[in-house]
Amino acid sequence: MSSQPRSQSGPDTVAALRARLERLEHEAALRQRQLERYAADLREVFKQERVRAQELRRSYKATVLALSNAVEARDAYTGQHAERVAAYGMRIAHAAGIRVDPELEFGFLLHDVGKVAVPDAVLFKPGRLTEEERGVISRHPEIGSEILRDVDFLGDAKLVVRHHHERWDGGGYPDGLIGEEIPAAARVFAVADTLDALTTDRPYRAAVGWDEARREIERHSGTQFDPAIVNAYAGIPDEAFAYLRDANA
Ligand SMILES: [Fe+2]
Repeated sequence: MSSQPRSQSGPDTVAALRARLERLEHEAALRQRQLERYAADLREVFKQERVRAQELRRSYKATVLALSNAVEARDAYTGQHAERVAAYGMRIAHAAGIRVDPELEFGFLLHDVGKVAVPDAVLFKPGRLTEEERGVISRHPEIGSEILRDVDFLGDAKLVVRHHHERWDGGGYPDGLIGEEIPAAARVFAVADTLDALTTDRPYRAAVGWDEARREIERHSGTQFDPAIVNAYAGIPDEAFAYLRDANA
């Protein structure tokens, strides 16, 4: 008796195809689960990295604050000057559309670190300074940037330290840079620093109100200050600065 060849579309072939399909589906499901596990692992790694980066940033900031407090501790009347300037500076930089790297704040906080090299007798001399004494004080931006030279995590923040006494018209120091030659963050700093100096009591004069500070800063736009930064500052309401001042009192 001769057997008939099975038809290609017979029930066995269908069963075999179904079995193959099921196997493929099973394999696909396994692969999918594996991918989901990889994705979950990756998410966990990113999360841990983020936590570590935040911790690192917190310890950087604590170190920077310790250093800036050590400088300011000599100078009782300025209180939290560096913190307020940093807060004002970050706000103005945002408004001016300047790229705000996290380390920018560190530059604001450390701007006067070079004053550690200025003797008390000069820094706190009540009367007029001699030319030589003025020379000693005016070296603090260079000394500050030298002190921080090898601190890599500060990045461009060191430019704020070196150039925070430059003037838009080129009459500042230490390098007499003009206009946009001055790093943007240092141009922001100049406005923030003056704003805080004017609106806090100093031994030689009482604080002025926000209005008067605005007029004073406006008056020096284009000479001491970058007009674009002054404009950005002008668009920020007094309440924003008052809030930052209270938060850093
Ligand atoms: Fe300074």
